[in-house]
Amino acid sequence: MAKEKRIIRFGVIGCGLMGKEFASAAARWCHLTDVAFEPRITAVCDANPAATEWFVDNVPSVARAYSDYQELLANPEVDAVYCAVPHNLHRQIYVDIIRSGKHLLGEKPFGIDRAANREIAQALAEHPDVIVRCSSEFPFYPGAQQIVNWVNEGRFGRIIEVEAGFWHSSDLDPTKPINWKRRIATNGEYGCMGDLGMHVLHLPMRFGWKPKSVRALLSKIVPERPDGRGGMVPCETWDNAILACDVETADQRFPMVLSTKRIAPGHANTWFIRIQGTEFSAEFTTKNPKQVASLPYAPGGVQAWHVVDAPYKSAYGTITGGIFEFGFSDSILQMWAAFCDELVGRDGMSQPFRCATPEEAAGSHLVFTAALESERTGNTIAIDWEV
Ligand SMILES: NC(=O)c1ccc[n+]([C@@H]2O[C@H](COP(=O)([O-])OP(=O)(O)OC[C@H]3O[C@@H](n4cnc5c(N)ncnc54)[C@H](O)[C@@H]3O)[C@@H](O)[C@H]2O)c1
Repeated sequence: MAKEKRIIRFGVIGCGLMGKEFASAAARWCHLTDVAFEPRITAVCDANPAATEWFVDNVPSVARAYSDYQELLANPEVDAVYCAVPHNLHRQIYVDIIRSGKHLLGEKPFGIDRAANREIAQALAEHPDVIVRCSSEFPFYPGAQQIVNWVNEGRFGRIIEVEAGFWHSSDLDPTKPINWKRRIATNGEYGCMGDLGMHVLHLPMRFGWKPKSVRALLSKIVPERPDGRGGMVPCETWDNAILACDVETADQRFPMVLSTKRIAPGHANTWFIRIQGTEFSAEFTTKNPKQVASLPYAPGGVQAWHVVDAPYKSAYGTITGGIFEFGFSDSILQMWAAFCDELVGRDGMSQPFRCATPEEAAGSHLVFTAALESERTGNTIAIDWEV
């Protein structure tokens, strides 16, 4: 007989693109083997009632659909919330979720700016029993997990440099209509950094690679976009960002180049990390999701890249055979498994890689805020991690 699973009753606030991804992950929970927990979406909320219809039609466990999130928070049949709304709403809604005592997986960037992020952190400090994590799925790719293991094993020797990025290209098309992600009021001053940057910083933050300074080059490439009603409107946000960071750890100092690009021709959802070291180098990119490249080196030895098709070896076991490939929706499923595992097991998770923490999200805000100042002044900006 199958083991009885602990059911976690979820509410979803924001039933758009990402809200549906969660519903789909929850619907194929049977994909995971040996997990002692399972999410069940019991309530949904969207300011636009039409957005909740898809959930009512497709998710049989949904008993209530709301247009006011306060009603969802008052529902005792909800233990935890996934919140995926535009960035200008993060502060108010995340703070209210935390104060309601419900656990939260919130979407990045965890507040439209640093002030909003601090208010969320303050609410969490007042409610330490609530588990709060920030959505970031790419490190759950098997190739990325392999790199995490290599870093944890201290394989790299002295780090020469690190490069990490997240690149898209659909904005190269000037006829693509404007949406909330291209407006400062809804997406924030950070622009592409707020939209894509937490994905890029998740692993560096986890490894303790905190930049002590940053020099940023931000670019706006497409100045206006169709408004969808026959006119044109300003496209206000930064399209691309390149951040040159100076990282200092207890025993190392090395350059780290982070990039978030909405306009990287030919790239659709390309997340990557490259670490070069004196004893070992490694690289993983979702462009080639099966492949992990590594180069072990001993003094005087051959410098040869080894490229292997990584087996489907995820943080949480699945029914998928090791010979098959891993994809975006698998990374979402794995992230959800990690969140539910932590809700149930707290410090006793069944594998060690947890979702991005509020502290890691706060670190990303420090970097993005310094990057904006660097762009404004043309200077390299020191980052104070003690604040
Ligand atoms: N993890 C990822 O890979 C990933 C990918 C895309 C977006 N995101 C993040 O997810 C969040 C949402 O992005 P999206 O692409 O799903 O956006 P979306 O526009 O598809 O969905 C947002 C939804 O929020 C709803 N909404 C607006 N105001 C609301 C309110 N007051 N109460 C309830 N619902 C409200 C909208 O009606 C809409 O349905 C953002 O924080 C974004 O950065 C994450």
